[in-house]
Amino acid sequence: MKITIFGSGYVGLVTGACLADVGHEVMCVDVDADKVARLSQGEVPIYEPGLETLIHQNLDAGRLHFTNDAKAAVEFGLLQFIAVGTPSDEDGSADLRHVLKVAETIATHMTEYRIIVDKSTVPVGTASKVERTVAATLEARGAAIEFDVCSNPEFLKEGAAIEDFSRGSRIVIGTESERVRQTMRECYGPYNRQRDKLMFMGVRSAELTKYAANAMLATKISFINEMANLAERLGADIEEVRHGIGSDPRIGYHFIYPGCGYGGSCFPKDVKALAHTAEAAGHPAHLINAVEQVNARQKSRLFEMVSDAFDGDLAGKTIALWGLAFKPNTDDMREAPSRALMEALWQAGARVQAHDPEAAEECLRIYGNREDLDLTEHRDETLEGAHALVICTEWKAFRTVDFVKLRERLVEPVVVDGRNLFSPESARDAGLTYYAIGRGASV
Ligand code: UGA
Repeated sequence: MKITIFGSGYVGLVTGACLADVGHEVMCVDVDADKVARLSQGEVPIYEPGLETLIHQNLDAGRLHFTNDAKAAVEFGLLQFIAVGTPSDEDGSADLRHVLKVAETIATHMTEYRIIVDKSTVPVGTASKVERTVAATLEARGAAIEFDVCSNPEFLKEGAAIEDFSRGSRIVIGTESERVRQTMRECYGPYNRQRDKLMFMGVRSAELTKYAANAMLATKISFINEMANLAERLGADIEEVRHGIGSDPRIGYHFIYPGCGYGGSCFPKDVKALAHTAEAAGHPAHLINAVEQVNARQKSRLFEMVSDAFDGDLAGKTIALWGLAFKPNTDDMREAPSRALMEALWQAGARVQAHDPEAAEECLRIYGNREDLDLTEHRDETLEGAHALVICTEWKAFRTVDFVKLRERLVEPVVVDGRNLFSPESARDAGLTYYAIGRGASV
């Protein structure tokens, strides 16, 4: 089957590579000519485990193509996936400019029936907007060509994208058309062998499913973070509480890890967009607004803890920072808690010595070369002359630490653990002043 994918960002690339890998012929189209040229040579601009290999294999097999020729791309695929970005507008709503531009491009070049698939995370009602845009463009051309628009939200996680795409729990497709159902069955057939994961539903339900899923997950995180802050005040240990509540299968152990707030390109943006949609629909979503507020506060927790450790005087202090990416196995720093922390530290006159296994380049791209930031190649180099260590991301490489050596290397034995990686007793027994999330007094 021939498939076109507009947008070679995170979702577009993973979708393209995975669909090509099961035998479809895939053409990925992007407006960035330089990116297209690099991708055609197998140079992948993002770090995602397994993606580069998959792209190489499918380029070599001749099943995956990259182009910036929109006309050729529209001619290519019966299915035209839209997987372009939907950034937050100033008011928090999703900016649909790129999505609608692609819809217009498809309608400008199409000469026969096409199925347009909304893969980007888009607010409820977007498929109707795409439909209207395509219809208006076709009418302006004087062309009477049939088309369908369906919604097919993506649920993959960065760092586990290929696994999630291939073995995800569901494939949601919003459509009322039997022709679309059949074509989408064919498209996802190879990923739908062991049990039927395809869920057909109304277009608006599919669109809302995506936001509801992310908002639910973000709610779990803000809930546990709220409990963690409370536990700290009440002298309880949130890790014990987490075990206690997780054992109830109605609650479960997944996705209730307390930390320094959720980041990334999805939760922050999608929670805000859903709040905006709710407001616009005349039903302000109090819970969703609170989820966002709790998260904003949580992102400042690490700075508060460091600041407390030094009685509010951080001027001239050097802080070692482990983990810049918003989570492990990615180089993505969008909305990462590390950014809130570094910016607050700089504001307070401190220097940062940071290490991340993958995100150093991204950090340089964002902040450039600055006097108050040193990026080190090895984890322990950050400790040289540092007054305290803060852990922002739970990379595996940070989980094994010799506390005694750590204490000896730090100017002050202060460790602020934003991911609850260690046992407070062991850290404190080794003489560290150890702060964690929701785990009681520090000394
Ligand atoms: C998230 C969803 O998990 C995916 O299902 C969804 O498809 C994706 O957004 C999207 O909309 O594209 P992602 O942003 O890649 O995926 O990352 P997650 O693994 O969900 O983590 C998000 C944030 O929550 C991270 O900052 C992570 O550290 C934090 N988190 C996660 C916690 O603080 N506690 C947890 O228990 C889990």
